[in-house]
Amino acid sequence: MEGKASLLDNMIGVGDMVLLEPLSEDSFLENLKKRFDHNEIYTYIGSVVISVNPYRSLPIYTPEKVEEYRNRNFYELSPHIYALADEAYRSLRDQDKDQCILITGESGAGKTEASKLVMSYVAAVCGKGQEVNKVKEQLLQSNPVLEAFGNAKTVRNDNSSRFGKYMDIEFDFKGDPLGGVISNYLLEKSRVVKQPRGERNFHVFYQLLSGASDETLKKLKLDRDVSKYNYLCLDSASVSGVDDAANFRTVRNAMQIVGFMEDEVQSVLQLVAAVLKLGNIEFKPEFVFLTLVVFTDLKEMCELLGIEQSVLERAFSYRTVEAKSEKVSTTLNVAQAYYARDALAKNLYSRLFSWMVTRINGSIKVGPFSVVMGVLDIYGFEIFEDNSFEQFIINYCNEKLQQIFIELTLREEQEEYIREGIEWTNIEYFNNAVICDLMENNQNGILAMLDEECLRPGTVTDETFLDKLNTICAEHQHFESRLSKNSKFLTDHSLPHNCFRIQHYAGKVLYRVEGFVDKNNDLLYRDLSQAMYKANHNLIKQLFPEGSPAKINLKRPPTAGFQFKASVGTLMRNLQTKNPNYIRCIKPNDKKASHIFTESLVCHQVRYLGLMENVRVRRAGYAFRQAYEACLERYKMLCKKTWPHWKGPLFFLEERRRQCLQDLAALIQKIYRGWKCRRQFLLMKKSQVVVAAWYRRYAQEKKYKKIKHATTVMQSYARGWQARKLLRQLKHQKRCEEAATTIAAYWHGTQVKQEDLQLHSPENSKQDFFFFLRIQKYFLNLRKNLPSMSPIDKSWPTRPYSFLDGVHTELRRIFHLWRCKKYRSQFTEEKKAVYEEKLEASELFKDKKALYPSSVSQSFKGDYLEINKNPKYQKLHSAVDEKVLLADTISKINRANGKVGGGNLLVLSLVVLADQKTGQVKASVPLLDLASVSVSKQSDGFFALKLKEGSASAVKGDFLLSSERLIEIITKLYRLSAANAERVPLSVDISDEFLVQFKNDKVCVKFIQGSPRNGNSASCKRKNNRLLEVSVPSTP
Ligand SMILES: Nc1ncnc2c1ncn2[C@@H]1O[C@H](COP(=O)(O)OP(=O)(O)OP(=O)(O)O)[C@@H](O)[C@H]1O
Ligand SMILES: [Mg+2]
Repeated sequence: MEGKASLLDNMIGVGDMVLLEPLSEDSFLENLKKRFDHNEIYTYIGSVVISVNPYRSLPIYTPEKVEEYRNRNFYELSPHIYALADEAYRSLRDQDKDQCILITGESGAGKTEASKLVMSYVAAVCGKGQEVNKVKEQLLQSNPVLEAFGNAKTVRNDNSSRFGKYMDIEFDFKGDPLGGVISNYLLEKSRVVKQPRGERNFHVFYQLLSGASDETLKKLKLDRDVSKYNYLCLDSASVSGVDDAANFRTVRNAMQIVGFMEDEVQSVLQLVAAVLKLGNIEFKPEFVFLTLVVFTDLKEMCELLGIEQSVLERAFSYRTVEAKSEKVSTTLNVAQAYYARDALAKNLYSRLFSWMVTRINGSIKVGPFSVVMGVLDIYGFEIFEDNSFEQFIINYCNEKLQQIFIELTLREEQEEYIREGIEWTNIEYFNNAVICDLMENNQNGILAMLDEECLRPGTVTDETFLDKLNTICAEHQHFESRLSKNSKFLTDHSLPHNCFRIQHYAGKVLYRVEGFVDKNNDLLYRDLSQAMYKANHNLIKQLFPEGSPAKINLKRPPTAGFQFKASVGTLMRNLQTKNPNYIRCIKPNDKKASHIFTESLVCHQVRYLGLMENVRVRRAGYAFRQAYEACLERYKMLCKKTWPHWKGPLFFLEERRRQCLQDLAALIQKIYRGWKCRRQFLLMKKSQVVVAAWYRRYAQEKKYKKIKHATTVMQSYARGWQARKLLRQLKHQKRCEEAATTIAAYWHGTQVKQEDLQLHSPENSKQDFFFFLRIQKYFLNLRKNLPSMSPIDKSWPTRPYSFLDGVHTELRRIFHLWRCKKYRSQFTEEKKAVYEEKLEASELFKDKKALYPSSVSQSFKGDYLEINKNPKYQKLHSAVDEKVLLADTISKINRANGKVGGGNLLVLSLVVLADQKTGQVKASVPLLDLASVSVSKQSDGFFALKLKEGSASAVKGDFLLSSERLIEIITKLYRLSAANAERVPLSVDISDEFLVQFKNDKVCVKFIQGSPRNGNSASCKRKNNRLLEVSVPSTP
């Protein structure tokens, strides 16, 4: 496996200046430059990180880089700000040590960027979760909001912090961020009303004008044109590479995330707009009163803030001084009015800024927390052409920070070695405590002088202040003034009369005294605060509480210098309680350009930051130091000798502690692994039980089915055997019963025989004789009285004895049968045929048709016309070559009207219909074409010959005929069809209503009983094409 890259592998130059050989200022600068040229902007001095501003974005802040540096030892990877952030965070999380990140360097050196990098790294590596992420997001998003309102473009830096910021990020015991508190230090509010050449007002003004929608601007009564506002400097309204409009959207979004409500955002924007409007108000002297020249802006501003215009006008015209019970109002001149206007604008803006910080703190406020990481990003040391009170304050703050650095890294460490008796060669360094003293000393410090001057009765001007300085501080080696007693500056023309110069640790700065007194007083006329308080605007009211009539306080408020000194003092004390982590920012050039490394500029910074001395102390000193007490407190539980009370020196404590921690970790791991294995085991066991249960069930089911099958087989065999046994028994029983029956039969036979023998014994013979006599007499009588041989004779002699009842009836039946047989035997063949016909007619019509009884006595003659003999019918006879069964005159019913037409002949063999007079054949129907015959139940002679559908004869339709010999005709037809083997016997339908087919019509022939119109014969009438009605005389 490839070995891990050490700090020295592939390192550009030397990563840690402590290892630099030979150590000199030149080699130090050369190393910095070499690394800078290779984009290595971070270099260590022990645990201090030097950061050189690259002035361009480098690909070294990616999430992958964060992961790379996460939980890695400080020296394991190449120098990076992430390594310092990780070290601080881990020390905070694992050792519960409060941390502070001190970022120093001059304006534009990259402090703000560094602080954001530290915060984003900590946010990335600390715990996650919905709530934690929200906190992180709020902490990070507070930056753009504060930068918009507190940063501005200066000649040194396009995004220069014009306020000091110290942010405490608070964590719980797990290292998850809970929230934070931001402290802000003196905003450079003079920038609101005036900016030096080449600089801008605070970003927010430009962002609002270019980024807000037209609608928003209209609401705020603003114009997008920057040139319309006196407070906005025109010569650098836009900054190259900065998109104010996009930044405005970012800020609005950030405000929302941080927790500003929509109405709060609107109020803030209204105040920003009001400041711009305020700048446009102009004054002109006119008699006694001042005249406000630009009315529209004043009017609009009053509308925006909900202030009555007259109230504000008055506040700009008068100044009321209250002393005890007296109130004196004086009229303001033009200059005073302008002064009042600017003072109001500055106060409005700076109070708004402080309110915003408080509001953000309200959102990111914290519950109980365990440890804190403070990030200090304060305005950097700055030297302008024209330096005023603000620069004095800023540089004072930087002096104090430098002092902390010197104290902790140079002085204390060296003193400690000497105290400990360790051989030590003293390293010289410049201690700026003396400059701090010049500035802050309570008796004769510059700030104290200023306060004294401000509070002093009488005429106080900046000049009187300078005079005071000239007398008190003249002797100080770091104070320079033209009028001081120190004669060496009397001829120094670089030092104007109205200025004083301080030799700061970072260089000499010339301060112009003009405005010092005013700025320190930071006075806002009471009339203005009262006017503001009267505004119908919640936020304004909150910003000017002293305007409330209930709060009239005649005491002077503390001066700006005093307040700042106090808050810096608190900050320093706060920082001293925490474990410091230093980031020393260096500015490589004055052009804000990348790739340029101006050695002289960097050398100057290296010198005043005391970096060389820092390296020397680090090289000479120990790599790791810890105070005895802290060390003992941390490790005493490891050993009996130190627990509970320490009695002697101990070594390798760190190693022992690590070992102990390892053992504990192993124990925790052991328990955890055991728990995990057991959980796994229980899970497996549970699964196994389930699987086994299923398998057992399956096996058991299989076994059960096998046993069931075997049992069924055995049962069937056993039942079969039982059944066969039973059968055998039953068979045996049956045979036994049969045998018993046979025996019983024989036995009974024997018995009967014996009885018979007894019966035919002589006594019984006597009785039989009389019996036989009676029987004899009966038969003889019967012979004498036998009835005639006519089969229709129904007489029969009476029976003499009742016991002969059955015999008598049987004999009558036998006699009748015999008599009939005798009668039949006399018949000739012809007569037989006639009777057969008559029998057939009886079977067809008896009790079915009323005409039948009249036909019984008629003989069925058949050929009534004798057509073979009659020459008239010769032609007809020749047409019918077969034997003629019947020839008779019949009537044919007209299909159209139902009239009965006489004079037709019917010849049966074929069915031939011929004309009576001529013998001409009218229709001839083969027997096979006849389907059925329909007749009525009445005494009429109507009959319909129905033809088979589709046959040749059926073209004209069925025949409806009438004849008195209907019974004979139909009987003969029937017999003829029955004799024909090719067809089934003709069907004879007897009904009073039947259908006949006339050509295409189906006509219903209906028979009704009625009084005949034509004598006794039936009449027929076609009612309609569906109905033919036959009226039949009612049978008596
Ligand atoms: N690590 C970095 N990477 C890229 N650019 C950087 C980096 N640090 C600083 N810069 C650039 O330098 C500019 C100035 O940095 P920054 O605002 O942090 O300076 P500062 O020390 O806070 O100055 P001031 O004291 O005026 O507030 C930034 O706007 C940015 O363009
Ligand atoms: Mg800054």
